[in-house]
Amino acid sequence: MKMAAASLTIMILTLVGISIDGYHCKVVQFIFGDSLSDVGNNRYLSKSLAQANLPWYGIDFGNGLPNGRFSNGRTVADIIGDRTGLPRPPAFLDPSLTEDVILDNGVNYASGGGGILNETGGYFIQRLSLYKQIELFQGTQQLIKNKIGTTEAEKFFQEARYVVALGSNDFINNYLTGVYSDSWNYNDQSFIDYLMETLGAQLKLLHSLGARQLMVFGLGPMGCIPLQRVLSSDGNCQERTNKLALSFNQAGTKLLDNISTKLANASFKFGDAYGVVNDVITNPGNYGFNNSDSPCCSFGSIRPALTCVPASTLCEDRSKYVFWDEYHPSDSANELIANELIKKFGFMGVNQTEAPSPAPAASQEGD
Ligand SMILES: *[C@@H]1O[C@H](CO)[C@@H](O)[C@H](O)[C@H]1NC(C)=O
Ligand SMILES: *[C@@H]1O[C@H](CO)[C@@H](O)[C@H](O)[C@H]1NC(C)=O
Ligand SMILES: *[C@@H]1O[C@H](CO)[C@@H](O)[C@H](O)[C@H]1NC(C)=O
Ligand SMILES: *[C@@H]1O[C@H](CO)[C@@H](O)[C@H](O)[C@H]1NC(C)=O
Ligand SMILES: *[C@@H]1O[C@H](CO)[C@@H](O)[C@H](O)[C@H]1NC(C)=O
Repeated sequence: MKMAAASLTIMILTLVGISIDGYHCKVVQFIFGDSLSDVGNNRYLSKSLAQANLPWYGIDFGNGLPNGRFSNGRTVADIIGDRTGLPRPPAFLDPSLTEDVILDNGVNYASGGGGILNETGGYFIQRLSLYKQIELFQGTQQLIKNKIGTTEAEKFFQEARYVVALGSNDFINNYLTGVYSDSWNYNDQSFIDYLMETLGAQLKLLHSLGARQLMVFGLGPMGCIPLQRVLSSDGNCQERTNKLALSFNQAGTKLLDNISTKLANASFKFGDAYGVVNDVITNPGNYGFNNSDSPCCSFGSIRPALTCVPASTLCEDRSKYVFWDEYHPSDSANELIANELIKKFGFMGVNQTEAPSPAPAASQEGD
């Protein structure tokens, strides 16, 4: 009765396993990013000039009031998290954040105006750069250790999913402005090298803090955001800016391939939606869009409008505009970007009722 003995052993092991494990943490996300992922941190940075707390931000989200997202609706990270079965993490600076909320939902540190580099976005006065966001994450880890103990906390942070989505501000609100020293201390290639060196160190730091499953989102054709078009003489996309985004994505892919093989037990991946967004911008009609060169929320003929305000007028059909404001994609464009990234990363579904260490499922979304 070898069989019976074997299944008895399995049963005993299972029972012991359950009693040893006891506390089963949920799989949650920790998100590091800029305005494309901010869900309200900048609302609590009262001096920050990068704000999304006036109508009509958030008009297609929940109750339609501003919620800190720099869009009419969801962010790309919102959509990917939803599809992956992960809860939406609240903003780190949200005063209602507690240890229990963190254990159930994770945390989002993303901040409008933030960059990979500390010096990026300085003229917004206040923003959380990536190093600052990682510092805040270390504070979160301490809180959780105090709450559930070091061993459980280490498990919790190793099982979590991590998103790192910054870089556009390092170009748009730093290198390309001509008002920061980075503009004259670097050329296109050496600036990208500098960004990769910094990002590499930041990712290694996150790994040393327990991150094991991490996605880095690359850049879109940022030379085609309405603001960049309006700053060009002919209203076309800025080719040099787009080339920088492509180089960033290429270097990022290489960096992540390199780093992944060196960090123990790590699945660190880079993915971008440059190609599909570029195609939407060129052929909006093919994707059900009607406008890909101007913001849905605009202030009469005054361009660039810089931000969307209550006195702005909105386009007739928000779902048909690729861009919500001068900088940021609309909810519908974010959905398209999210679908593309899900394909690139492979759909990493999470089953919250399963035991820990869920294996990434390699299936892809059909849409
Ligand atoms: C960047 O800022 C962090 C604080 O957020 C600081 O610890 C670090 O030394 C800074 N790095 C550089 C290169 O200035
Ligand atoms: C990988 O990274 C190391 C430094 O961490 C560097 O020396 C090496 O050249 C990189 N390899 C490639 C193929 O980029
Ligand atoms: C990697 O995983 C193995 C097996 O689970 C574990 O023994 C080891 O400590 C892990 N190493 C790191 C650095 O996480
Ligand atoms: C947007 O719709 C109008 C009216 O149907 C049409 O004339 C125009 O060509 C469309 N523009 C784009 C970019 O699809
Ligand atoms: C999640 O896991 C539970 C228990 O293993 C299983 O019954 C359920 O069908 C799974 N759900 C999905 C969506 O995979």
